[in-house]
Amino acid sequence: MDIDAISAEIKSRIETAASLPELEELKVRFLGRKGIIAELTGTIPSLPAAERAAFGQKANLLKKDTARMLEEKMAALSASAFANGHQAVDISMPGVAQSIGRAHPLTQVSEEICSIFTRMGFSVVEGPEIETEFNNFTGLNIPLNHPSRDAFDTFYLRSIPETQNLLLRSHTSPVQIRVMKSRKPPLAVIVPGRVYRPDAVDASHSFMFHQIEGFVVDKEIKFSDLKGVLEIFAKAVFGKDIKMRFRPHFFPFTEPSAEVDISCIICKGRGCSVCGRKGWLEILGSGMIHPNVFRQVGYGPEKYTGFAFGMGVDRIAMLKYGIDDIRLFYENDLRFLNQF
Ligand code: PHE
Repeated sequence: MDIDAISAEIKSRIETAASLPELEELKVRFLGRKGIIAELTGTIPSLPAAERAAFGQKANLLKKDTARMLEEKMAALSASAFANGHQAVDISMPGVAQSIGRAHPLTQVSEEICSIFTRMGFSVVEGPEIETEFNNFTGLNIPLNHPSRDAFDTFYLRSIPETQNLLLRSHTSPVQIRVMKSRKPPLAVIVPGRVYRPDAVDASHSFMFHQIEGFVVDKEIKFSDLKGVLEIFAKAVFGKDIKMRFRPHFFPFTEPSAEVDISCIICKGRGCSVCGRKGWLEILGSGMIHPNVFRQVGYGPEKYTGFAFGMGVDRIAMLKYGIDDIRLFYENDLRFLNQF
C-alpha cells in the first residue's frame, strides 16, 4: 500500500468535509478499529523485515496527523455554525418560559394598607421582632403582674444576665415606644410587621401572624381624628359602602379604647356564618394613647395627645379574599399562592 497516496487522500477528504456528521463518518473510516490506518498497520507483519520499522513510524505519524486534522476541522465547523446561528443552537425553537415571582398575598395586603396611610401623610417604620420586656409590656403601661398581660403573652428568649429580658414581640405596639423615644411630635407613623403568641394553630390562629400598628401624636389630637382616619382606611380597603362601629374595650396603653367593627362584607350586615349572625366583623383595636405611655417615654401628657390602633393583616386578608383558613398563608402551596 502506498502510504503517501493514502495520506494525501485523507488530507483532502478532511479539508473538503462540510459538516460535523460527515467528519464523524470520516473519523470512523480513517481511525476506527477497522479503518484505513488500522488496515495499514495490519500489513506490517507481512513486510520485509528491513522495511517494517520505517513503515510503522510513518503509519503512526499519519494516525496522529489524521486525529489532529479531524479535531481542528470539527472545531472550525462548530465555531462557524455557532456564529451563523444554526445547527449548534436552533434559535427558532420556542424558549422555556420563566415564571415570574410575585409578592405573597400577605405582603400585598400589608403594602396596600400602608400605602393608604402614607397617602394620608403617615411614614412607615419597622421594629425588631426580638423586643425588650420593657417595650413590649412595661413601657405600654402593662405592669409585670397585670392580668391583661395574659392576652399578650409570648415566647421569651434565654436572657443574658445584666440585660433586659428579651422576647418575641406579641404586638407591634412596642414600636410606639421606640419611635416616641427617638423622635419628637408631631408623629404619624405606620408599623407593619410580624408578631408572636403561644397560640395553638387552627383555622384562625397561628403562633406567628402580621399586624399593622398606626399612631399619631401631636397637640390637640382628638378621638374624632382617629375615627376619620380609620373610616378612610376601611372604605379604601373594603369599599365605600362599608359601615363602621366603635365598641368600648380595654387596652392598658389606650384610654378610652375601642374595638372597631365593619359591617359584614359577605352579608352586608344581615347576619351570616362568617360574622356569626352578628352582621359585624371586628377588624382592629384602637384608642387614645394613655398618659402613662407618654410618661414612660418622657413626653408631657398635658402637652400632647394621640391615638393608636393595631390590626391583624392576616385577618383582613382573609376577609378581603374570603379565605377560611389562616394556615393557607404559611404552607407555600403554589396552587394557593398563584391565585394572587
Ligand atoms: N396591640 C393591640 C393588640 O395587639 C392592638 C392595639 C394597638 C390596640 C394600638 C390599641 C392601640 O391587640
